[in-house]
Amino acid sequence: MVEKIINILEIVAKKRDGYELNEKEIFFFIDCVIKNKIKDYQTSAMLMAIFINGMSEKEVFDFTRAMINSGKVLDLSDIPGIKIDKHSTGGIGDTVTLIVAPWVASCGLPVIKMSGRGLGYTGGTIDKLNSINIKTNLSDKQAIGLAKKTGLAIIEQTDEIAVADKKIYELRDVTSTVESLPLIASSIMSKKIATGADGFVLDVKFGNGALIQDLNSALKLANIMILIGKKFKKKIVAIISDMNEPLGSHVGNLLEIQEAIMILKNQVNKNSLRLLKLSYEIASNMLILSGIINDKKSAYELLKNKLENFDAYKKFLDFTKNQSDEIFDYNKIIKKQAKYKLKIYSDKEGFVNKINARTIGQAAFELGAGRTKKSEIIDYEAGIIIKTKINDFIKKREILFEIFCNDNKKIDRAVDILKDAIVLSDKKIKKNKIIYKVIHG
Ligand code: URA
Ligand code: CA
Repeated sequence: MVEKIINILEIVAKKRDGYELNEKEIFFFIDCVIKNKIKDYQTSAMLMAIFINGMSEKEVFDFTRAMINSGKVLDLSDIPGIKIDKHSTGGIGDTVTLIVAPWVASCGLPVIKMSGRGLGYTGGTIDKLNSINIKTNLSDKQAIGLAKKTGLAIIEQTDEIAVADKKIYELRDVTSTVESLPLIASSIMSKKIATGADGFVLDVKFGNGALIQDLNSALKLANIMILIGKKFKKKIVAIISDMNEPLGSHVGNLLEIQEAIMILKNQVNKNSLRLLKLSYEIASNMLILSGIINDKKSAYELLKNKLENFDAYKKFLDFTKNQSDEIFDYNKIIKKQAKYKLKIYSDKEGFVNKINARTIGQAAFELGAGRTKKSEIIDYEAGIIIKTKINDFIKKREILFEIFCNDNKKIDRAVDILKDAIVLSDKKIKKNKIIYKVIHG
């Protein structure tokens, strides 16, 4: 015991002083973390040393490997074909998974997806599914069975995957060490690789509504993740996308499900076009990585066809049948609403120059759509529909938002926050591209 404490102190000191840790030292550190052989303050000191000094390519690879090793690795070999997964670093109104998973599955690409719950302003796929009573607490064996049967399963990430990450992420959260690029990259990639897919399409977001605010850091993060993926012999593509304005028009768990269903039914609202565009890009790259299709043009054609002939929507219905005790009732789900709703109108006129993702995320959070701790209960029906888009001309008294919640005490504060969410001016502006760059690994 005494010897181990000396060792960990030496390793922390080595990292603190800017030296590269070797494989043995990194594996020892992770082993100490999962077996509770070191104190949280020692782990935290190491995380801060990593935050300050960064990690070499070799260190990031070893760190990721040690994290994967700390838990279970799924074996998807029973599901025929190449399996491609997707991951988003998280944003406001990002409901891409709910659209893309059934969509690519309807093209013949099997998807078995482990997702998380939302934390902070950003929603999680699992909460969204739970808002319409889809069961997500299935075992990985059950999920593999469903993926074999209908080509699609979405379940909660189990605690058995990358066990060290859970502990490390919790400590990062309370020690201001979340924003370290090598720590983010190894955290995401260890969990992804452990879920067993052959390749990944990563949606790396930058902007005020994202974990990473600036474009340069997003590019760096994408490149570290691509490097890790390639070292593990995974097929990999990273899409750098803008998160300065919400991706879709609906923000909130049930609301985002409703927007996804409208898109899957090929009834796309003009305010959902950015969400649709990014979904096309992610889905087409998944299909190309899987080898189902060779080029982007054919991928887009196939995907368009699958929306228009309702195969994508039918796949979503198969999925709800597999993972729910209730018969999915479109009319019921689409009409479901929170007890309180309120329309918010503009008090000025002008062209919409900005729809601030972070502010809208904060307002949705205030309405009850988000949580600060994993254990907190959220209001599934709470959220915001954005009724405009960049460069629309807004007249006085024209509607900007519709807000929803089940606790009317929360409304005033959300309304107050939303006052600053939209910026109008007398000129149109040059729109931010939704997709900034696609990097092929
Ligand atoms: N998401 C993760 O899973 N890990 C991080 O470190 C950041 C975002
Ligand atoms: Ca108008």
